[in-house]
Amino acid sequence: MSQPPQNFISKMPRASLKHLLVFLGITTLLVTVYNIGKCDIARNDSNFYREEKLPHLDGNFGGTKGFQPRVAHSYDIAKEKQPIEYEEIDCIINEDYTVKGRKEGSEVYMPFSFIQKYFEVYGDIDKSDGYERFSFHHSYQDDFPTGPQPRYSPSGVFMSFDLYSVEDRNRVKCVSGIEGVPISTQWDHKGHYYPIQIAQFGLSHYSKHLIQPKNKVKILEDGERTDLSDWLLPDQKSEIRSKLDDRTYLDNGVVEFQTSPSMKNPGISISTREKKLSTLSMDLNFINNGSITVVIQMGDGNLYRIHYVLSDTVMRQDGNRDLYYGLGSSKKGKWFHLTRLLLVDFQKGMNLMYSKTRGARMKNSARITAICVRGHGVMDNVTLSAHAHMDLFFDAANYLVRHQNSIGGWPVMVPRKLIPEVMELDSGWYSAMGQGQAISLLVRAYVVSKDLKYIDAAGKALSVFDIPSYQGGITSKYLNTYEWYEEYPTSPSSFVLNGFMYSLIGLYDLRETATGKIREKASELFNRGMRTLKAMLLLFDSGTGTFYDLRHITAGLAPNRARWDYHKVHINQVQLLSEVDSDPLFTSTAERWKGYMKGKLSPHN
Ligand SMILES: *[C@@H]1O[C@H](CO)[C@@H](O)[C@H](O)[C@H]1NC(C)=O
Ligand SMILES: *[C@@H]1O[C@H](CO)[C@@H](O)[C@H](O)[C@H]1NC(C)=O
Repeated sequence: MSQPPQNFISKMPRASLKHLLVFLGITTLLVTVYNIGKCDIARNDSNFYREEKLPHLDGNFGGTKGFQPRVAHSYDIAKEKQPIEYEEIDCIINEDYTVKGRKEGSEVYMPFSFIQKYFEVYGDIDKSDGYERFSFHHSYQDDFPTGPQPRYSPSGVFMSFDLYSVEDRNRVKCVSGIEGVPISTQWDHKGHYYPIQIAQFGLSHYSKHLIQPKNKVKILEDGERTDLSDWLLPDQKSEIRSKLDDRTYLDNGVVEFQTSPSMKNPGISISTREKKLSTLSMDLNFINNGSITVVIQMGDGNLYRIHYVLSDTVMRQDGNRDLYYGLGSSKKGKWFHLTRLLLVDFQKGMNLMYSKTRGARMKNSARITAICVRGHGVMDNVTLSAHAHMDLFFDAANYLVRHQNSIGGWPVMVPRKLIPEVMELDSGWYSAMGQGQAISLLVRAYVVSKDLKYIDAAGKALSVFDIPSYQGGITSKYLNTYEWYEEYPTSPSSFVLNGFMYSLIGLYDLRETATGKIREKASELFNRGMRTLKAMLLLFDSGTGTFYDLRHITAGLAPNRARWDYHKVHINQVQLLSEVDSDPLFTSTAERWKGYMKGKLSPHN
């Protein structure tokens, strides 16, 4: 395209814009007609007659979901019964190229496929209630919740993370059995532990737990019974016994199993038939080497096996039926709590064996048919459940505590080329967003558990904010005056807005939860950041949307417009901050930015 559509729109006078939108509306009729033509519906089908009035000409297109087609009342009734006749017409676009349109009287219709690309707008035909209508959207993300929303709290739902499913993302290779957190393939296909993704994994499960606290749990073994006949032994040398009153173990009701640790041995198994309850949890102690196998059956009867073994290899396949997830050799001889999302583990394995689309399809017809244990060990609390959000949340919190380095940071161990050869980071960089989201997660872990190790780790994470980005830290200064916490601490600075605001939310969470020195320090960093945000927020306002970063100012490049989902994140963050700071800048900005998503531009001269 010869000219970016954004420029095109912003140069248009307001009145022309109205016409444009009316014109877009009109286009929808044409799309319907095109569609009918394609479906080869008989010409006398009533759909072929005009049933809809033209969209309102008052420019009030800001309804809930695009414009609502209305049944004609005032429109010329006689005309309604006439088949619509169109002529072809060439539409010449900026004298550059030609698009085939249609002409009806003095009205001209252009194909929506063209409009969509040219103006970056969205639309599709909806027939959910049997009545076909075209739904037009200026953006693909304008579905803000209506009505009063719960106030933000450092122990509450984090942003809208209850809607996230981090482990399902394509760029998550798998959830490691060794660390209990996802491994990212973003920026490095070999995979790495990406602190931001890990914090988001934990925060999403925490938020889901608050939104959907009800769970369905099926207990397979709780160690509280002597009859273990539902466990099947593979051979006569294998044994399983109840340890109801044995005080040598942590718990007085556990089950001890002993069988050959060889992978050729099918193991001591309990059968089940579950599709919906696909989260396996258990307390386990392998006295000697052992493993757990989950048998998965497909709709076509084929069996697959996921083996959880005491090895340090995260994930591997053997043939095309067996997947191995390492739990880490250091778990031998210790009690540990294992929680696995079995269908996620299955799908990630199928992605490895086949393809991502096939993996997703296979997951839908998979059923869990047996759980088997092998080797010598003790187990308890073996359950299949709909979810175990808090287990996964604590897996992420504990990972962050275990892997925080001496300066309080979680370095990212892959290089990042934000803009190749202009803004690059070497492996080992820190992210203010990573620090901030880790803090938000650790604060919640502290609130739930009251365990001080979480709040201490959150406090230590503040030290990285003291290191300037040019010295390997995360803080840069705009015009040598305003401290900015960098998601990507590049030189020149990148000033990524959403990452900065996430770091502020982390600092806020800690300020509200900690006491003493940690609270003081978090407060100071938060206040400094808010001063910056108030001074700089509108640098990101383009009049039609927002900028993702300030590369156009610091690197002399074309502006990097935030795509609509990032624009929506900006709005949600500004709204959240408006709850904790009464500066009207935040509320007025959020309102205007919402308007951009429905095509309302800022005024011009
Ligand atoms: C346990 O056995 C598996 C499979 O035979 C082996 O790969 C693993 O290294 C063993 N782990 C330990 C801790 O002995
Ligand atoms: C099993 O769960 C119960 C209840 O949560 C807990 O008290 C017990 O310690 C668990 N067993 C083991 C071995 O961790």
